[in-house]
Order: sequence, then C-alpha cells, then structure tokens
Amino acid sequence: MAAQIIDGNKIAAQVHADTAAETQALRDRHGLQPGLTVIIVGHDPASQVYVGMKEKRARELGFLSQKIEMPATTTQAELLARIDALNRDPRVHGILVQSPPPPQIDEREITLRIDPKKDVDCFHPYNVGKMLIGDTDGFYPCTPYGVMVLLERSGIDPAGKHAVILGRSNIVGKPMMALLVQKTRGANATVTVCHSRTPDIKDHCRRADLIVAAIGKAEFLRADMVKPGAVVIDVGINRVDDPAAKRGYRLVGDVAYAEVAEVASWITPVPGGVGPMTIAMLMQNTVKACKLQNGVKG
Ligand code: GUN
Repeated sequence: MAAQIIDGNKIAAQVHADTAAETQALRDRHGLQPGLTVIIVGHDPASQVYVGMKEKRARELGFLSQKIEMPATTTQAELLARIDALNRDPRVHGILVQSPPPPQIDEREITLRIDPKKDVDCFHPYNVGKMLIGDTDGFYPCTPYGVMVLLERSGIDPAGKHAVILGRSNIVGKPMMALLVQKTRGANATVTVCHSRTPDIKDHCRRADLIVAAIGKAEFLRADMVKPGAVVIDVGINRVDDPAAKRGYRLVGDVAYAEVAEVASWITPVPGGVGPMTIAMLMQNTVKACKLQNGVKG
C-alpha cells in the first residue's frame, strides 16, 4: 500500500488565502492592518533565510511587515529596549525574535519580556499555560499548530487514536502533546511522548495510529516501526552529506520516507510537508493578535 501524501505546500496556500481574506476584511470593516515585527540578532545564514521568508510573506498578505536586523554584538539591554518599544507600539500586533540568538543573549528573559498579547510564537509561559488548559484566546506554537491543521484539512480525526510523539522539545514535542490531548474537536487523542530516555521506542511506535516525528535524527523512523495504516507526520529537517547533490548535502526528515510510505496510510514529505505550515500559522496568529488587541470578534 502506498501512503497518500499530505501536501503541506497546498494546505499552507489555502491557509494563506484565508489569512489574506481576513486581512482584507479587517481593513474594510475596521480600518485595521495586522502588524508583524521580526527581529534577527546576528548573521546566522539559515535564520536570515527564515526571517526573510516571514517578512516577505507578511508583506504579501497585506500586513505592516517589519524586519529589524541587530548586530551580533547586541547586548541584552539593547534587545530588551527594542522589545519594550515594540510592546508599546499599537501598530505592532505580533513580535518574534528569531531563535537562536547569539550566546550573550538570555533567551528566557527575552521570551518573558514580549507582551503575551503580542507573543505570536507562543513561547511565553502565559500562552503555553493557556494552551495547556484549553483556553482559546491565546496562541498556539506555529509548528504543532500547523500539524493540527494538516490533519484537519486532510480529514484525519485524531479522536480516540493513539498518537506517539517522538521528541519532547518546548517548541514541538511538548506543545504537540498538549494540542492532541485537548478535549476539543480535531483532538481527543491518547498521547504517548517518547524521548532519548524512552526504552523500547519501537514498541510504542508500532502501537501508534498517528506518529509525529520531531526527534532531530535523520531517517530515524523506519518501516518496521510503523503499524500498517498509521498516519506519519515528519517535523524533522536534517542535512545529510550527499556528494551527488549540488550543495554537497540534501535535506531529509526524521522519517525514512520511501520505506515508511509503503506502510503508512498518510505521510508528510520533507521538504513540502510541515515546513510551509509554520509560516502559515505564524500569519494566522498575527491576525488573531490584531483582532484580540482591537476587540474584534471572530
Ligand atoms: N527558529 C526556528 N524556528 C523558530 C520559530 O518558530 N520561532 C522563532 N522565534 N525562532 C525560530
């Protein structure tokens, strides 16, 4: 059996179309323009690419889109001062500081300083707590939120299913657990979280109806770890050396795609699966932030 492919590019495009329509409606009915400011400290090439994509997409959707580039020598006090100014600026509804920052920056303090109402990454403990208790007027972290939307728009209902999450990061594994276990439409899964200290990961995976792989190990999930008919979502992006490739490497996920696709019922590719959804959900969060800050319902 060959799995059906969950096309993240197609679903992200649908989400962007919804975001553009909501943005237009905010403008027409309320005279509002969602504002997103992305801060990058230093010159990490991969972060530069990601930040550029976020800034461009926000502009294309009709947002007030701002990229702030700060030198690699930026001090904690300088970055905090920038955040304080953005917190006070009513045109800015969402603030994101690209991770990882240079080593002199204390990321935890930065996360706490961003106004929770503008925390479109959902990194602030206030929003993480809201997500955990099922409050819907905060935000969800963009990548696990993107996974939930991929499932929903593919007609896959996690209710009553046994979901196994590989990885317990604060950005993906833990919030993925919180979203899948919620008592709400599109969730209601029974969730197991596996990590580096879990014995018998293979046994857990083989009992899973849904596997979300976010463990950061190239092609970790093999076909013999997957129950026939399971849904497999691959959050990983890993570089592996490939002398035949133009750049000398290629990108692979945490799933051995070709062999797992023979066993699974649905699967996300890498690239073109979860990746495009992260930016799509960031834009949705920014529209939500704009609405919440201006008392717009719906
Ligand atoms: N670096 C990699 N992914 C992310 C993300 O989702 N948000 C931020 N702020 N930094 C990142």
